[in-house]
Amino acid sequence: MIIMEFQVDKNSEVDSWKEVILIYNSALKEIGTKLEILNDEFQHVHQYNPIEHIKSRIKSSESIVKKLKKHGYESTIENMVKYVNDIAGIRIICSFTSDIYRIADMLRNQNDIKVLSVKDYIQNPKPSGYKSYHMLVTLPIFLSDRIVDAKVEIQIRTVAMDFWASLEHKIRYKFEGCAPEHITAELVECSRMVSELDARMMSLNEEIQTLDK
Ligand code: GTP
Ligand code: MG
Repeated sequence: MIIMEFQVDKNSEVDSWKEVILIYNSALKEIGTKLEILNDEFQHVHQYNPIEHIKSRIKSSESIVKKLKKHGYESTIENMVKYVNDIAGIRIICSFTSDIYRIADMLRNQNDIKVLSVKDYIQNPKPSGYKSYHMLVTLPIFLSDRIVDAKVEIQIRTVAMDFWASLEHKIRYKFEGCAPEHITAELVECSRMVSELDARMMSLNEEIQTLDK
């Protein structure tokens, strides 16, 4: 099925598709382990987990083809590796906004991770009200005979931002991007409430932390 979409007629291309997916899967495993280690160490030092949970996914072949088409590129393996930045995606859900920047810094400081770009939709939310911290990174994958760099899109957000994004995504999907105006406006208002909730929860937590000492 995947193979047909890429109009593959040679076995070698089937193999390279499988290899590419294997590399992206390895990248997700690597980042997952890095995050687990950071979370464990943080728990050990500060008696607290900055990460609530982690979700990762490989983009479906259908979505990859759709994205390439949208940007006017032919569906080749070369183009997908070059132009589709979110084939491997990982989402990190934190309790507090401060954890987001802490985790981003910890990842940035690992010298095998190269940050290609950052989009801070917390400082600069999208018009929809979307908030999240995005990092596009590459990291080396060690294969039997060579090392390849794999791109991973990392999204970091609070539980509240994630709650908002999942409902907004459902609404966007249902109305195919043309939701009634009052719904769009209500989502923007909810996003404002998310920021307020996050800010209040964070200062509550900070107060509790100082009482602990
Ligand atoms: P895409 O072509 O959609 O990947 O956008 P992009 O390449 O310009 O990157 P961007 O950082 O804007 O968005 C990447 C991803 O963030 C999307 O695939 C979504 O998972 C998420 N995202 C971005 N904007 C929104 C939004 O308004 N609502 C929701 N729910 N998610 C969003
Ligand atoms: Mg995307």
